[in-house]
Amino acid sequence: MRKILHKPAQIVTIDTKGKNYKRGKELNEINVIDNHSIIVENGIINDILPNSSLKINSSDIIIDLKEKLVLPGLIECHTHSAFAGSRADEFRMRLAGESYEEIANKGGGINTTVKAVREASIEELINLLLKRVKYFISQGVTSLEIKSGYGLDYENELKLLQAINYLKDIFPIDIVPTFLGAHTFPPEFKDDHEGYIDLLINKLIPYVSLHKLANYCDAFCEKTAFSASEVDRIFSKAKESGLKLKLHTEQFNNIGGIDLALKHNITSVDHLEVLEDSKLYALANSEIVCTLLPGVSFFLDYQYAPARKLINSNAIVALATDYNPGSSHIANLNFIMSLAALKMKMTIEETISAVTINAAKAIGLNKTTGSIEINKQADFAVFDTTEYSDIVYNVGKNLNCITIKNGEIIFDSTGDIK
Ligand code: NIG
Ligand code: FE
Repeated sequence: MRKILHKPAQIVTIDTKGKNYKRGKELNEINVIDNHSIIVENGIINDILPNSSLKINSSDIIIDLKEKLVLPGLIECHTHSAFAGSRADEFRMRLAGESYEEIANKGGGINTTVKAVREASIEELINLLLKRVKYFISQGVTSLEIKSGYGLDYENELKLLQAINYLKDIFPIDIVPTFLGAHTFPPEFKDDHEGYIDLLINKLIPYVSLHKLANYCDAFCEKTAFSASEVDRIFSKAKESGLKLKLHTEQFNNIGGIDLALKHNITSVDHLEVLEDSKLYALANSEIVCTLLPGVSFFLDYQYAPARKLINSNAIVALATDYNPGSSHIANLNFIMSLAALKMKMTIEETISAVTINAAKAIGLNKTTGSIEINKQADFAVFDTTEYSDIVYNVGKNLNCITIKNGEIIFDSTGDIK
């Protein structure tokens, strides 16, 4: 049976002509079609037809999109949604002048959340995740990455991955689990880095890979976390085990993360707030997606990643919330798009490419989603406006009114997840 997304005011297709990502100036080239409708069959985009030549059969299901705007389903490619507890106390400490790194060095930060996760049951984690995933879906998100990284021992990293995989099985969207055992050293291994790396390399990575609990292995290359040579060993093992790679790097310090990312030809490097010019050109001209997280700069009140320099140097740039309890307690992708425009000087068009096709590439889904192209999944975010600039202009306001995944309406403005 055909479904027709009937007569929207605009369709923003992000047509990549089969290339499935955008680099450099291509990010600014988005394709807007007026006076067309989208034909969906079996959950796949079958055609995009001019309204003038559209013939409706009696068996067709019509989704009336008059005065609405259709975008590809949004892709949220970097979140730490699987957490328990609150860091509101640390937020207060930061408001009183202490820095995020100072709090982390005193044993707070990530390890505060590790304690809360270890105390939480898997049911509690699932309930927390359920609400958070629904919130992303209500924004038009149809593919969502979720990292572990707050368990930091055998039992609790697996508990987080099992909770994420449970959600992956029950929700109609694509959920991409990432193993972030190398987030920081847990308190019991503070003075025994080798012991923790041994646990990651010889126990956790083999188990995660054998049981297919994650698509990616991520790590945090930073003075308060893992050195480049430590990540190098973790990555070698993860790659050999069939996991794809991502890296948190250049957040506060440059300690060799970019060279390592290039060496392993990883899928994405994330953060880059302190990326130096000397590393920028090689990165920008690689196949690695540069995932920028302006919510972190806003929430921690420090410098933004050099988005303009990266795009002007040809990079594949994506944007994400980095939703987590410590450095970006922001689950609003729309707000991130506005921040990227206002603070990193990205154009509205660039921000749209960065949360669709390039974000899809950052989680390995760009061949099946991220753009409105024939034969891709029928994944759409429908906005209650007639002009796409409104999405970024309405700072922090959710204009999404319908979310469609594989041709099915999974959210509409009544607020129900179907
Ligand atoms: O992406 N950089 C490391 N990890 C997270 C922060 C996690 C936390 O503070 O809980 C990030 O910013
Ligand atoms: Fe992160």
